[in-house]
Amino acid sequence: MSGPNTDYDPVEVNAVQPEEVEAARDAALAAIAAAGDLEELKQVRIDHAGDRSPLALANREIGALPPHGRKEAGQRIGQARGAVNQALAARQSELEAEAETRMLVEETVDVTLPTDRTPAGARHPITTGSELIADIFVAMGWEVAEGPAIEAEWLNFDALNLGPDHPARTMQDTFWTEPEDHGLVLRTHTSPVQARTMLSRTPPIYVVCPGRVFRTDEYDATHSPVFHQVEGLAVDEGITMAHLKGTLDHFAAQMFGEGITTRFRPSYFPFTEPSAEVDLVCFVCRGAGVLDGATCRTCKGEGWIEWGGCGMVNPRVLRACGVDPERYTGFAFGMGIDRTLMFRHGIEDLRELFEGDVRFTTAFGSELG
Ligand code: PHE
Repeated sequence: MSGPNTDYDPVEVNAVQPEEVEAARDAALAAIAAAGDLEELKQVRIDHAGDRSPLALANREIGALPPHGRKEAGQRIGQARGAVNQALAARQSELEAEAETRMLVEETVDVTLPTDRTPAGARHPITTGSELIADIFVAMGWEVAEGPAIEAEWLNFDALNLGPDHPARTMQDTFWTEPEDHGLVLRTHTSPVQARTMLSRTPPIYVVCPGRVFRTDEYDATHSPVFHQVEGLAVDEGITMAHLKGTLDHFAAQMFGEGITTRFRPSYFPFTEPSAEVDLVCFVCRGAGVLDGATCRTCKGEGWIEWGGCGMVNPRVLRACGVDPERYTGFAFGMGIDRTLMFRHGIEDLRELFEGDVRFTTAFGSELG
């Protein structure tokens, strides 16, 4: 004999009652209709069609019903869930279409509107500085000459009276290229351009050569393994040291202002004889060594700033380069471009010139251009 269904729990199965199912369905449909965007609809889907929604819970109760009630309850709940899912799908596509239309309107780009111009950047101060220097000489009728950064050892040294055993050869810390017997170096100065020029043309020669040079120096506030020099070379009949002095005084005045002249100190370079170091009147204190009662920081109280090297082209160099020293004489000079720019602009750390910070380039790069 079968007893009463003691598993039957009238409270639990309340959810499957027609009114409850209807109410859950209507609440779901109302919420779906009220969902204003896809985000809201997502929440509505969780609340009304998710695993913990009233209709899902009711569906789970079906199994607890006595067998005769299951079919009817199943149909009722199934229909309600079907209606909810359909409404969800319909609202979903409605809202998607709306979102797309809104996007098309809101994100329209008027390609004819003027925009912010892309900042143009600035040319590097070394480029503009080299050009300024070249211009000063071009204005005197000189030409600009260039040579390669990877240079024949013979042109970098031998032709300049720096034979293999010359002690001065070790003065410039050289980057050699492999294999060593190919005789190529990264040029240690722009002086090989002197040799190249004399070998390839006949005097009169008036050339200026700005360029990149290399030495195995540590990288710090005043040294860099890559830096820039400008070389000058004049070869003609009757060239004297007075021409050299006058040329450098003019160069200094053009670079640093009227009244900034040069002085020579005896020195030695194998490729010039006699040779001199060139100093520049300190353009900050104008040679006084003091400024507003304090020691001038630019020249450290000296009144002079070391600028470069120069001299009369050694007759041995003229001869090695095919120029007749009986007929012609010449002068040459060489300065660091980076150093020149550092004191011209008050740049305290050489590395600023090499680090490629666009803010630095913008501040210093266009000024000369
Ligand atoms: N080339 C020399 C240097 O780098 C500078 C220099 C050039 C000296 C021309 C005299 C004449 O030190």
